[in-house]
Amino acid sequence: MTKTCSVTAPGKIILAGEHAVVYGQPAIALPVFQVGAEATVQPYSGDQMGAIRIVAPDINLDSQLSLLAENHPLAMAVRGTLQALEMQQPPGCLIKVHSTIPIAAGLGSGAAVSVAIIRALSKFFGRPLSDEIVSQLAYQTEKQYHGTPSGIDNTVITYGNAVYFKRKKPILRLSVPVPFTLVIGDSGVSSPTAITVRDVRQSWEREPSRYDQIFKDVGKLVDKVRQHIESGRPEKMGRLLNDNHTLLQEMGVSSVELDQLVDAARGAGALGAKLSGGGRGGNMIALVRPEQVKTVITAMRQAGARKIISTTVSSTITGEQKDA
Ligand code: PMV
Repeated sequence: MTKTCSVTAPGKIILAGEHAVVYGQPAIALPVFQVGAEATVQPYSGDQMGAIRIVAPDINLDSQLSLLAENHPLAMAVRGTLQALEMQQPPGCLIKVHSTIPIAAGLGSGAAVSVAIIRALSKFFGRPLSDEIVSQLAYQTEKQYHGTPSGIDNTVITYGNAVYFKRKKPILRLSVPVPFTLVIGDSGVSSPTAITVRDVRQSWEREPSRYDQIFKDVGKLVDKVRQHIESGRPEKMGRLLNDNHTLLQEMGVSSVELDQLVDAARGAGALGAKLSGGGRGGNMIALVRPEQVKTVITAMRQAGARKIISTTVSSTITGEQKDA
């Protein structure tokens, strides 16, 4: 109970189905291990006995837990964990948090930080929580970032596996018999998901039948993407990813910067490309044959990508990170 505990959690991307997933359609998400959040919990003997201190230099936070607001996402992760462990008077400890996942970029930074804190803290107290509880607790904090999150971020990050996700349905881990390569490009534009999710909701309320049709079309193509992955024909996903991008444009969540990166990737030979996550900024992804990776990266860099990650998706996901 008094040993230092460190836990890392990966970032994530949404391969297909973002936004429509909020309305009950399926989506597919993948963990991205080149970026991540780390939480370290160690015994703390500050002035106050039993005090819990949280230090997160990335967001300029150094505070006692008791001074943080009810809805502070990091405090929520800590309080939720203590509640799940039924610890009313926990011993003091110091929680250090560090993340290499850009904030508001569609790579799951909020969920990764929560999962790392929840796992590190419960491990520190000698009572590691199950994946199911970790994911549920992270979902509670997601509500602070997202408004009405579908739950896909906390799920893929908790399980660290490719997932086919549908709200209120059991989680389905996808097997990837034939690996495929993605190049992930950051537009450099920060775009909080809560805003795009809210805007899509407002548009859906104004034009319900048009948006319901778009969501259904997204759902259908996500099921086809799943079939191609599971049957070992990942190259066939290219056209579907392009179609998904068109549907996201119709939802109003793309942007000039994202479209430029998508066009550049396609022009350089990518099999397909789309924005990934909440949109209007953040990241896009391109499906590429391994021999095209360099050409596509160069084209995306010229089109303004700030950071580029290439990742090979298989049973064990690998890749490298490049600063543009
Ligand atoms: O965290 P982001 O930006 O990848 O967005 C998550 C995907 C959405 O479908 C837009 C929202 C959600 O909660 O599923």
